[in-house]
Amino acid sequence: MLQKNNNAGNQNMQTHQCESVAIADIRATVVQVRRISSDVSIITIECPVIAAAAQPGNFVNVKINSSTQPLLRRPFSIHNIRGPLIDIMVKTVGAGTTLFCQITEGSAVSVLGPLGNSFNRTNPEFETALLVSGGIGTAPMLFLEKTLAAEGRKVINLIGGRTKDDILSQNLANCRIATDDGSAGFKGTVVELLDVFLHDLKKEGTLKVFACGPNPMLKALTRLCHEHQLSCDVSLESVMGCGIGICYGCSVEVMAPDEGIRTILLCREGPVINAKLLIA
Ligand SMILES: Cc1cc2nc3c(=O)[nH]c(=O)nc-3n(C[C@H](O)[C@H](O)[C@H](O)COP(=O)(O)OP(=O)(O)OC[C@H]3O[C@@H](n4cnc5c(N)ncnc54)[C@H](O)[C@@H]3O)c2cc1C
Ligand code: FES
Repeated sequence: MLQKNNNAGNQNMQTHQCESVAIADIRATVVQVRRISSDVSIITIECPVIAAAAQPGNFVNVKINSSTQPLLRRPFSIHNIRGPLIDIMVKTVGAGTTLFCQITEGSAVSVLGPLGNSFNRTNPEFETALLVSGGIGTAPMLFLEKTLAAEGRKVINLIGGRTKDDILSQNLANCRIATDDGSAGFKGTVVELLDVFLHDLKKEGTLKVFACGPNPMLKALTRLCHEHQLSCDVSLESVMGCGIGICYGCSVEVMAPDEGIRTILLCREGPVINAKLLIA
């Protein structure tokens, strides 16, 4: 087993608390595959060790089969934990995810995890969590919502997509929807939806925003949160290889404390960063 520092959300990348968590590489069985839209499936894998250690925001790096196609593992957020099972929500975008969504129940996969840091649920203090997501960025929100609710927080989901078919709100509570074409909910982006409702939402007590989605959405959200002095964690994506800080395939540029720019490895110092660090 490898050890990682799960820095619980990176509220402040210089002073965050580090908690040592074991990373397991497990040969695991796919126990269920459920197609939930034309291009998204929920794949359930039996991984008791990873399920027991995972925190919302963590991801797993999955070797889909034993062949060289695809050669590398693929990273996926942990969508949900159900006892010894982990659910991951997979959108078909290329060769690896196409093969993964075609996998059959009973197949074996190699799962490395839990990886990366997690959303910071304690710092700063807040009463209501706003979970803002777009497209497949909704994947980590169910695990986060369930954990926050169990900790006694009020949770409101704001979910965006291009059309109603892109809205992945299954099993989420308290949802407000935005679509670019107006085919469901508010017509506009999820950030515009938040902007419209923010005045009302501020009546729910101190707010903290947790977000995952495409980069332009996260940048617009970062600007809105800055304007309203809202604390915000964003979960980023990059192409990844090893998932554990060896290949340097996941380097992304973020703001440095001195206003300059620095490079981080997203698989270790992310995928969650304080939105203040996002180059908007
Ligand atoms: C931390 C993390 C969590 C993720 N969580 C999820 C999740 O929960 N569900 C999900 O469906 N996907 C998730 N992704 C994205 C997923 O890993 C990629 O879609 C997948 O690796 C693509 O593999 P592929 O072989 O199908 O595509 P490829 O054939 O490798 O590439 C197809 C296209 O997708 C682009 N691409 C590949 N990887 C990424 C990436 N990581 N980000 C953006 N574009 C990419 C390529 O540049 C190319 O244009 C996550 C990525 C990261 C880094
Ligand atoms: S994916 Fe290899 S260093 Fe991050």
